[in-house]
Amino acid sequence: MDGITLVLIGVASILIYFLLKYRTYSATAPPGPKGYPFIGNTFQIDTKKLHISLSAFAKEYGEIYSVNVFGRNAVVLNSPELVREALLREPNASNFAARLQSYFGKEFMFNNADLVLSSNTEVWAKRRKFSHKLLKAYGEGLKIIEKKLHEALNNTICDVRKFSGAAFDPEDVITSFLVGIITSLSVVEYDEVLNEVLKPRFSFMVRTLPFLKYIPGKYKEIYERCRRAQLRFLELVKKEKDNMEGGGMIHDLYAELPKGWLTEEEIFAILTNMISAGLLTSKGTIWSMIQILISRPEVQKKLQEEVDTVVGHDRLPSLSDKSSMPYTEAVLYETLRYISHIPLAVPHSNSRDSKLKGYDIKKGSMILINVWNIHHDEEFYNKPFDFCPERFLGHDGQIEPADSPVRQSFLAFGIGKRACIGEVFAKNRIFLFLASMMQHFTFESEDGNIPEIMDPTNMVQSAVRMPQRYKCKAIERRK
Ligand code: HEM
Repeated sequence: MDGITLVLIGVASILIYFLLKYRTYSATAPPGPKGYPFIGNTFQIDTKKLHISLSAFAKEYGEIYSVNVFGRNAVVLNSPELVREALLREPNASNFAARLQSYFGKEFMFNNADLVLSSNTEVWAKRRKFSHKLLKAYGEGLKIIEKKLHEALNNTICDVRKFSGAAFDPEDVITSFLVGIITSLSVVEYDEVLNEVLKPRFSFMVRTLPFLKYIPGKYKEIYERCRRAQLRFLELVKKEKDNMEGGGMIHDLYAELPKGWLTEEEIFAILTNMISAGLLTSKGTIWSMIQILISRPEVQKKLQEEVDTVVGHDRLPSLSDKSSMPYTEAVLYETLRYISHIPLAVPHSNSRDSKLKGYDIKKGSMILINVWNIHHDEEFYNKPFDFCPERFLGHDGQIEPADSPVRQSFLAFGIGKRACIGEVFAKNRIFLFLASMMQHFTFESEDGNIPEIMDPTNMVQSAVRMPQRYKCKAIERRK
């Protein structure tokens, strides 16, 4: 046997080995829609409304299925029980806490030096633990800065009052409320670009065809805007760190630098995450919430009755009122469920070959938590397209306990090792915003008529979905 024949036999054996391995694997992998070679299921999916297409597959294939999205194999989880099995029970919980290498993480987060996009390495765990602690000071320990928060709320009330009942687009008011609290940095431009660049289609295109960022056109333009915004952000952070007045997250992070476990690049990446994750998500929630309230005067009435009874008119609502204001909290939960504006959470991955529901899941798969489907499935929420805060209230009128079915199916902040570290902070901030607005104003539509309730399937598609633009009127309750 000559050398060439030997090489050919060797190559053929390797090919057969991989083919058999793939076949054996795919026979035990979760079932799913049949795709085409190389492009997979790409053309069977509406990439602009990925979550809707994936939920349609869920009707056909059930609580777990495989699909090939943008050239990557993904396993989609469609029931709360299965999500819990994957993200809360070991050994799955540790396996499924990984992230896939992302274009944005590599290009703009200093090679995944961040919290959200970095995989679950040891250094990531340290960063996450420390950042979570920071948020306790600014979030769960929000009482410490309640004074600052009340200042921001007073400014927001003044901002809204300035419109004197005339129609306005609430976006700017919401943004300055949120930015005012989390940081004095001006990050608005950065966030808008960020939302653009995180769209699955942008990432897919530039990951697959990296030269696009050099060719004049849409992708080059977005890439360059993002780079410019990043540089501007870095300059602002550096300036802010030297302005030691008042302390804050930036200073707390820089204080760790001499200890040697955190680099300046990690500080930039963590701050970018905290500010953008904190801003875009809460902005989408509050912006949608006002639009929902415009078409639900009866909900506004109940909110106003609650805040009038518990807080009265002489002071702003505070966090200690929260436990006495279950309806306000229920509106917050229901808004997050109804809009599900991060419909597939942040994609997870598995760091080892794993098993779920008896199916084999190959190491390095994309794992999608189909939050949208779970939040809009009749099996978990009765009449899911009705906006009904009462579903989160028990017979005693209090918020349902954490182990109740409605709360167990509520996955807006994710669960497990990659769950949102800003959950408590976000809920507190939105609660205070909602309660204070209802204490002072009644929201109406631009023309005073009651519109159809906003359609959560028709939001502006981005990394974090936003409502379609609208204008509203804020009628002052007491002058
Ligand atoms: C309405 C507000 C918010 C919603 C709905 C939300 C939702 C989420 C979701 C779905 C995830 C991904 C969970 C997963 O991978 O399974 C996440 C992660 C994260 N969120 Fe939030 N979030 C909100 C507010 C915030 C705020 C205010 C902050 C910080 C100030 C924040 C910081 C983070 C960070 C750092 C992560 C990454 C955690 C990790 O990968 O380990 N979020 N959030």
